[in-house]
Amino acid sequence: MTTDYDPIADDYKRSKELPWRGFIERFTLLNLMGNIEGKSVLDVACGEGFYTRMLREQGANQVTGIDISQGMIDLARQQEKDNQLGIEYVVEDARELTGEHQYDLVLAAWLFNYARTAEELSQMCQSVAKALKPAGRLVAVNCNPACDFRDAPSYRDYGFETSLVGPWQEGTPITWRLFLSDGHFEIENYHLSQATHDFALKSAGFTTVEWKPPELSPAALKDNAPSHWDTIMNHPPFTFLECIKG
Ligand SMILES: C[S@@+](CC[C@H](N)C(=O)[O-])C[C@H]1O[C@@H](n2cnc3c(N)ncnc32)[C@H](O)[C@@H]1O
Repeated sequence: MTTDYDPIADDYKRSKELPWRGFIERFTLLNLMGNIEGKSVLDVACGEGFYTRMLREQGANQVTGIDISQGMIDLARQQEKDNQLGIEYVVEDARELTGEHQYDLVLAAWLFNYARTAEELSQMCQSVAKALKPAGRLVAVNCNPACDFRDAPSYRDYGFETSLVGPWQEGTPITWRLFLSDGHFEIENYHLSQATHDFALKSAGFTTVEWKPPELSPAALKDNAPSHWDTIMNHPPFTFLECIKG
């Protein structure tokens, strides 16, 4: 698996400033996580630590971030050095987590869409399940397996576009082009069906697997009419998951 975030680590960090990231992605994840005060949390595919820092700020008492990209972890560690929150960052592949600790909560923000095959997805789900205590929770945001990207509308008004390479089938690459004030960059995700996700998660030991739609923060209506959000809310290219380990 490539560590292709190394060259775009800084651009990716800046893309977190796009309004939908805060008003939908962050808002929905925070609601799903609920009160995490005093909990131990593992942020898998933590990137440069956007959510890892947020977890600590929300009261989690032990937070670890892991990512396969050295560039992303370097950025995360730099920010930890500048403002120490007591977060440990580790370069690791989510398919082969080696830590012994079992956490109350695992956050997987945009991880599962890096699995190109059902087997890779199963490896990720098993690794994540192993890192959780019994009855521990997994909360995730992911490229939406129920969105047929052949027919997806333009998301340009929100600062990104999606496109497909090749036929629509398991493993099809989906390209996300994210626009910044001074240019754009691209990232690639892979389509695996909702059934493939359900099977991988349940086989890994999650007894509850619930798909959750995006939620829009009321703060999103301050600068934009409600209709501004219709396209992304009615045809969401991303979705959320809440799972409980049996
Ligand atoms: C879209 S970024 C999300 C970063 C962070 N979770 C966030 O929401 O800001 C996806 C991250 O997944 C990481 N990643 C992809 N495959 C991975 C794997 N097998 N194990 C660990 N991290 C992986 C990439 O390096 C990248 O940092």
